[in-house]
Amino acid sequence: MTPEAPEASGAGHPAGLFITFEGGDGVGKTTQSALLEEWLAARGRTVVRTREPGGSEVGVLIRDIVLHHRGEVTPRAEALLYAADRAHHIETVVRPALERGDVVIQDRYLDSSVAYQGAGRVLGREEVRDLSLWATGHLLPDLTVLLDLDPSAARKRLDADDKPFDRLESEQSAFHDSVRTEYLALADAEPDRFLVLDASRVAADLATDIQGRVQSILDADAADGAVGSAD
Ligand code: TMP
Repeated sequence: MTPEAPEASGAGHPAGLFITFEGGDGVGKTTQSALLEEWLAARGRTVVRTREPGGSEVGVLIRDIVLHHRGEVTPRAEALLYAADRAHHIETVVRPALERGDVVIQDRYLDSSVAYQGAGRVLGREEVRDLSLWATGHLLPDLTVLLDLDPSAARKRLDADDKPFDRLESEQSAFHDSVRTEYLALADAEPDRFLVLDASRVAADLATDIQGRVQSILDADAADGAVGSAD
């Protein structure tokens, strides 16, 4: 069997844009996703804001197991649960939105699995990535924003929220250090896809940097469209 090549989202649905936010727990992904949604909507784009795990009805059930089950979930079972959530979510929510030409802003995607299950649970980068690529028909984001923060600083933010920790948040600091190291290695390996930002900066400044990068992708798409239509 010949392996399929990973597909940047633009290849299968020219008008859509697939943007993912990644980083450890408590780094500010939700805030930045919301600010980007607002910015794009003000520019007339239809935005679908979603997340993994839990971006579909089936996903909500899977999210409950992976984050809140009180007994053991073995590492391979955990990886498969995230992959199952992803497979269903991409097919039923994300691909249809991209095919309509919408912008999909997604909190976490396959890089979370590579960092948390591949490095944190030590299942291995390649196998976990291949599992997600198989699950999604090889869909890669056009842009992945990595919000990088020292896990001890992120932990202070989570403590301040005063909410009970879920299964992953409850892991030891060595786990979260491995996750962070893996994220940075992933970004190094794919510099064109990743925008890495220091998440200790002020939220409004981070938002400006993200908007700048998204604008340049939109400009490049518009220029491609103009070239295409001149043919
Ligand atoms: P969050 O939605 O509050 O960020 O919580 C999701 C948790 O699940 C977070 O701790 C990261 C973890 N996670 C994985 O371990 N693997 C994955 O593939 C995804 C999407 C999330």
